[in-house]
Amino acid sequence: MISFVGAGPGAPDLITLRGAARLAAADVVVWASSLVPERVLEHASPDAAVHDSASMTLEDVLAVYAAHPDARIVRLHSGDPSLYGAIGEQISWCVEHERSWEIVPGVSSLAAAAAAVGRELTVPGVSQSVVLTRLAGRTQSSMPARESVAAFAAHQATMAVFLSAARPGELQRELVAGYAPDTPAAIVIRASWPDERVIRTTVGELARDLEASGATMTALVLVGDALAPEAERRSHLYEPTFAHTFRRRSTPGSTTGRPARRRA
Ligand SMILES: C[S@@+](CC[C@H](N)C(=O)[O-])C[C@H]1O[C@@H](n2cnc3c(N)ncnc32)[C@H](O)[C@@H]1O
Repeated sequence: MISFVGAGPGAPDLITLRGAARLAAADVVVWASSLVPERVLEHASPDAAVHDSASMTLEDVLAVYAAHPDARIVRLHSGDPSLYGAIGEQISWCVEHERSWEIVPGVSSLAAAAAAVGRELTVPGVSQSVVLTRLAGRTQSSMPARESVAAFAAHQATMAVFLSAARPGELQRELVAGYAPDTPAAIVIRASWPDERVIRTTVGELARDLEASGATMTALVLVGDALAPEAERRSHLYEPTFAHTFRRRSTPGSTTGRPARRRA
């Protein structure tokens, strides 16, 4: 079995229980030292053969899989494997070579960055959508033209920009195509790592602050009015006058909800 495991954003206790169990049982682990801190490997058995994919090509990684046809293999991906994880080609190889495989989800850096900033990304009346995107990479053809940062910026929804910290000027230019310069932004560097940093800024100051941070990798840029403190509005869901399947509507002055109860 080849398990594509989400390592989480970096803190060893932000891997899922299932991910940790797969690591503990693995005979072979392939991980990217450039994106996943070594401490996450504490979940692996000391007897596991560990390969650092930072200097490996896809072919090198596939050669490791091919060399261990009966092993329990864990391929660790940062955050959640479904986001910029490049797992598609590995899954195709598994299918072609009749190897069993699975995806074990992980905590994305998006969630860790939002936690570091201390904001809900979907604030009622402000933004109910989160765009996860990136600047077009060196392989421009992999980015559909309709999906430019500038095109999404026009919606002024909350945006999380991955893989783009090394091009501050270009990122700011695309963002100001849709967001006002005073729109709040946050640069979150190594979210959940021991040296995590959060830099609060605005779209208009983003390039300067990103450049000054020195961050080029492992940094996520969050943008949108939901990041503003005044955006902390009360969710309609918890209004006393709002009824839903699990709660009756209460009238002013009455006690809301049911008393807390112990689990059976
Ligand atoms: C190849 S992508 C992988 C994303 C990953 N699958 C996820 O769910 O977070 C790598 C990019 O994710 C972001 N990233 C990953 N881990 C991060 C962290 N701990 N803090 C901030 N950004 C992170 C950065 O934008 C980095 O360039």
